[in-house]
Amino acid sequence: MRKGGSAARVAVIAGDGIGKEVTPEAIKVIHAATVSARRQIEFVEFDWSADRYLKDGVTLPSGAVEMLRDEFDAILFGALGDPRVPSNQHAADILLGLRFKLDLYVNARPVELFHDRLTPLRDRKEADVKFMVFRENTEGLYAGVGGFFKKETADEIAVQEDVNSRKGVERIIRHAFEYARVRKLKRVCMSDKSNAMTFAHDLWQRVYKEVRQAYPEIESRHLYIDTLAMEVVRDPRQFDVIVTCNLFGDIISDLGAQLAGGLGLAPSGNIHPGKTSLFEPVHGSAPNIAGKGIANPLGSVLTSAMMLEFLGWNPEAEKLRSAVRSALKENYVTSDLGGDKKTVEVGDWLADRVSR
Ligand SMILES: NC(=O)c1ccc[n+]([C@@H]2O[C@H](COP(=O)([O-])OP(=O)(O)OC[C@H]3O[C@@H](n4cnc5c(N)ncnc54)[C@H](O)[C@@H]3O)[C@@H](O)[C@H]2O)c1
Repeated sequence: MRKGGSAARVAVIAGDGIGKEVTPEAIKVIHAATVSARRQIEFVEFDWSADRYLKDGVTLPSGAVEMLRDEFDAILFGALGDPRVPSNQHAADILLGLRFKLDLYVNARPVELFHDRLTPLRDRKEADVKFMVFRENTEGLYAGVGGFFKKETADEIAVQEDVNSRKGVERIIRHAFEYARVRKLKRVCMSDKSNAMTFAHDLWQRVYKEVRQAYPEIESRHLYIDTLAMEVVRDPRQFDVIVTCNLFGDIISDLGAQLAGGLGLAPSGNIHPGKTSLFEPVHGSAPNIAGKGIANPLGSVLTSAMMLEFLGWNPEAEKLRSAVRSALKENYVTSDLGGDKKTVEVGDWLADRVSR
C-alpha cells in the first residue's frame, strides 16, 4: 500500500446499469482534483458485469482476488444487478466475493447532510445530521450459514445462523473508537439487541465493555437497535459514531441515508484498514432509469472522496465534497434532486469546480 504517497492504482468495476454511467463521471472528477494536486492515479477497468456473465459465464475470474489484493490500492465500484440475470448470481459472486475474500470487515456509511432542503426531518440544519455508521461486514446473519429442512413441504424449516466471532466483533468496535479518536469525535454508540439475542449480542456487550476502557476520552453509550432507530430520527445530533452488527448496520445506515438526501447521494466504503479496499455508492444499478443519462453521479463522487481519504489524500477528498456541496447549493443537479441536469453535465460541472 502506498497510503499517503503521491501515486495510486485503482481497479474500476463499473458493473451494470447506472453503475456504467456514474462511475466515469466520478473518475473525471477525481482526475481533475488529483492532476491539479500533482498526484498520479492510474485507473484499470474490469468488465465484470451482467454483460460479461451472459457472454461467457464469468463472474469473478479465478486469480482476481489475489490480483486486486497485490496490485491495487483500492477498487472503485459502480453497481451490479440486471433484469436479464434474475438470480443475481454475478452480483453475489463479485460483490460478496470481494467483501469476504478481501476480508473487508468495515462497512463505513457516512451520513452527512449537504443541504438543509434534502432532509425529510423538520427544522433540521446541515450541522444537525452528521454521523458515521460502522457496520460489521463479514459475519453475523449474512455469513451464509444455515439450511433447509423438509424444503418445499408443509413442514419446511429454514435456519439462518448468526455468526459472531470475538475477533470479528472486537475489530469493528475498535475501528469505531479509533476513528473517533483520530478525528477527535466525542461520542461512540454501540447498538445491538442483547436483551433478546442473549448469546450473540452478549458477546458484543462483553467485547464493547472491554474495548471502550482503552478510550476514556470518548463518551461511549449503548442503545438497543430499536431505540437507536427512534433516536436517530428524533434527534440525530446525539450521534458522532455508531457501530453495530451486519444486519442492523445495513438497516440503520439506509435510514441514515434518507435523513441526508436519499440514495442518489449516499456513499460507502468496504474497508480493511491498510489493505486493498472497495468503495461503492449505496444505490443499485437502477434499471428503471439506466441508459437515459439522468442518474445522479453525486453518490459516486462522494464515494470517491472516501476512497481518496483512504489513500491519505485528504485535501483532494475535501475538494470533491466541497464541489458536491456547491452543486447542491446552486441546484446544478439531476432530476431525482429536483434539478434538470444530465449525469454528464453534473460530472463536467464538478470537474471544472475542483480544478479551479
Ligand atoms: N451494491 C449494489 O451493487 C447494489 C445495491 C442495491 C441494489 N442493487 C441491485 O440493483 C438493481 C436495482 O435495485 P433497486 O431498484 O432495488 O435499487 P436502486 O438503488 O437501483 O434503485 C432504487 C430507486 O432509486 C433510484 N435511484 C437509485 N440510484 C439513483 C441515482 N444515482 N440517481 C437517480 N436515481 C437513483 C432508482 O431509479 C430507483 O427508482 C437490483 O438488481 C439490485 O439487486 C445493487
